[in-house]
Amino acid sequence: MSRPVRLTVNGAPASFDVEDRTTLLDALRDELGLTGTHAGCEQGACGACSVLLDGEIVRSCLLLAVQAGGRTVTTIEAVGSPGRLHPVQEALRRHHGLQCGYCTPGVVLTAIDLLERVADPDEEEVREALAGNLCRCTGYAGLVDAVLAAARDAGPGR
Ligand code: FES
Ligand code: FES
Repeated sequence: MSRPVRLTVNGAPASFDVEDRTTLLDALRDELGLTGTHAGCEQGACGACSVLLDGEIVRSCLLLAVQAGGRTVTTIEAVGSPGRLHPVQEALRRHHGLQCGYCTPGVVLTAIDLLERVADPDEEEVREALAGNLCRCTGYAGLVDAVLAAARDAGPGR
C-alpha cells in the first residue's frame, strides 16, 4: 500500500507516495532524483547512504521513508557547489581525501555532523566518527587529515 509522505528536503518542501517498505534511501534517489546519496551495502554497514535527519547523521538505508514524514532531510546536494565547495569538501580535495568518490557524500555529511557537535576534534574523535564510513580507496589518512584541517580552518567562533 502506498501512502503520501511530506517532508522538507534540502530546505524545500517535498512529497511523494511510497509503499510502507520503501527506505528513505530509495525514496531520495528514486522519487526525488537525489542520487548523490549512494547505495552501498543497504544494510547499515558502509555509511554511503548517510544523510542528515533533523540535523543528525543517519543511514538512510535503515530508515523507512514514512519515518521521515514531517521531518527535515539534508543530502549532499545541499552542501557546497562546484564553484564554492563547503570547507569539508575543500579540505578533502586539498588532502587527497577522495578517489572514486563513492563514499564521499557520506563522509562529508558525517564530518559536518561531527564538526557541529565537536568544534575542535582530535584525531581519535575524527577516526571514531568516520569509523562507520567504509572507504576502499584512500586508506583513511587523507580523510582524517581533511576533517582535522576543516576544523582548524573553521577556527573558533565558526
Ligand atoms: S548503504 Fe546504508 S549503510 Fe551502506
Ligand atoms: S574514495 Fe573510493 S570508496 Fe572512498
